[in-house]
Amino acid sequence: MQTVRGVGIGLRRALAEALFTSDAPEVRWVEIHPENYVSRGGYFRTMLERAAERWPIVTHGLTLGVGAVEPPEAGYTRPLRALLHELQVPWHSEHLCFSGTDGVMLHDLLPLPFDEQAIDTACARIRELRDSLELPVAIENISFYAHLGTPRMSELQFLLEVLERSDAKLLLDVNNVYVNAKNHGFDPRKYISSIPRERVVQIHVAGHFTRPDGLVIDTHGDAVRQEVYDLLEHTLRHAGEVPVLLERDQNIPSWEQLHAELRRLDEIYQRATGVSWA
Ligand SMILES: [Fe+2]
Repeated sequence: MQTVRGVGIGLRRALAEALFTSDAPEVRWVEIHPENYVSRGGYFRTMLERAAERWPIVTHGLTLGVGAVEPPEAGYTRPLRALLHELQVPWHSEHLCFSGTDGVMLHDLLPLPFDEQAIDTACARIRELRDSLELPVAIENISFYAHLGTPRMSELQFLLEVLERSDAKLLLDVNNVYVNAKNHGFDPRKYISSIPRERVVQIHVAGHFTRPDGLVIDTHGDAVRQEVYDLLEHTLRHAGEVPVLLERDQNIPSWEQLHAELRRLDEIYQRATGVSWA
């Protein structure tokens, strides 16, 4: 089992070469989307092997939203399990959402209705996934822009209930908390302080932008904003030494710009947790 500490970055094809050839001691681990690597050879396999020689790897899935009504197919989870065990990942994460229905993949992270039935479904999916992967499962809080039906509870209550009843771990996306807080009107610091710290195994930060009408959009294509750096510091002071990942999926800037963001995250990590790499 790999030990994951400090700041990491998502391994993306567009920045892989710069990452492999740069001297960036701030990068202590990388995250991959396993969908790009399961049962796959060629360029992706080579990229994965180069990364695995150098850093611990954590896996973050995009397709097995744990709120899905249908269980995942064994034809996918079996080779996924083999990859995760080969990489010795400490946990595997998926989103607390659904991404398809009636056998149709919608290629989006869609919010669940915040009600008892959705809690039961998500808990069942999480237990099945943990059993089939034989690994701890972490769920990620998503950003969302509209409620599916009339909510019976807040997003935070829904998340806490799922965590408690399924005994899942949490991949806490701090940018998603910020975006939702702005769009749905709650205090992001109170939200984070309400989460039991022992649940949090990983943190995401990313960029967002604000539309002229005030709606905040989670883009993964902009630089991390000051308010998210501040919220990250609050989060680390609450949760302790939890690894932090910079997510950048589009509009990839120069390596120098990304490296500057990674340095800034590392400074916050050391200051907030009391860890010193020196
Ligand atoms: Fe995220």
